[in-house]
Amino acid sequence: MPADAIPISESERRQLNERYAEIATLAGGLAHEIRNPLSTISLNLELLQEDLGDLEVPQARRMMQKVQVVQRECRNLEGILEAFLQFTKSGSPQREPTDLNELIGEFLQFWGAKARDSGIEISPHLAADLPKVSLDPALMRQVLMNLAQNAQQAMPHGGLLEVQTLLKNNAVQIEMIDTGTGMDERTRGRIFEAFFSKRPGGTGLGLPTVRKIIEAHEGSIECESEVGRGTRFRITLPTGADS
Ligand SMILES: Nc1ncnc2c1ncn2[C@@H]1O[C@H](COP(=O)(O)OP(=O)(O)OP(=O)(O)O)[C@@H](O)[C@H]1O
Ligand SMILES: [Mg+2]
Repeated sequence: MPADAIPISESERRQLNERYAEIATLAGGLAHEIRNPLSTISLNLELLQEDLGDLEVPQARRMMQKVQVVQRECRNLEGILEAFLQFTKSGSPQREPTDLNELIGEFLQFWGAKARDSGIEISPHLAADLPKVSLDPALMRQVLMNLAQNAQQAMPHGGLLEVQTLLKNNAVQIEMIDTGTGMDERTRGRIFEAFFSKRPGGTGLGLPTVRKIIEAHEGSIECESEVGRGTRFRITLPTGADS
C-alpha cells in the first residue's frame, strides 16, 4: 500500500466494490442501448447515400458530403462502443488449460501476413518447456491483438517484432518487443489510463483492456520503452504450480 493511502475496512471495501460493479453494469447497459439505434442510423445513412447518388440535382453533391461526415462520426462512435464493451467483458475469463505457444503461433500466422505486407518482420522465440496455463483463449488472443496492433502502429515504416515465451520462477512470461517509435517517460506513465491515446482515431482502451484481462488471470504487465528505439511489454502469468 502506498505510504499516503488511507486504510479502509473490509465492509467499506465491499461497499466500494458493489458500487463499482453497479456503475460498470450501468455503463455496459448504456453502451448496449446506444449500439442498436446507432446501427439503425448508420444503415439509414447508407441508404440515404444511395438515394443521393441517384439524384440529379446540383445540391446532391454537397448533401452527399454532409452525409459522409455523419457516417464517419457514426463509425467512430461504433468503434468506441465496441472497444468499451470489450473492456467491460474482459474481467470474467472462461478458463481452460491452454498451450500458449500454440495460441501465439496461430495468432502470428493469422496476423503476421498483414504485418509482413507493411514491412514488419516477426521473430518468435517460444520456449519448448512451457507448461499449459489455465486461461481464456479468446481473451488472450485479444491481448495479443491489442499489443501487436500497437506495435504495428509504432512502426509505420516497418521494423522488427519479437515475440517470446519463457518459464521463470514457475510463472510463464510473454514478451513483445518492437523497434518502433518508443515513448517518453510521461507517455509511458499514462498508457494504462482509460481513454488515454496519442493516436488520431484511437480509443485509448486497448491497453486498459489488456491490463484488465491479465489481472483477471492474476497476472501482471510491465512496459519498458525508449524514444527512437522501441518498446517491450512483458506479461507474467502464474502457472498454478508451487514455487
Ligand atoms: N508499442 C508501442 N509503441 C509506442 N507507443 C505505444 C505502444 N503501445 C502503446 N503506445 C502508446 O500508448 C497509447 C495508448 O495505447 P492503447 O492501445 O491503450 O490505445 P490506442 O492504441 O491509442 O487506441 P486503440 O487501442 O483503442 O486503437 C497509444 O496511443 C500510444 O501512444
Ligand atoms: Mg491500441
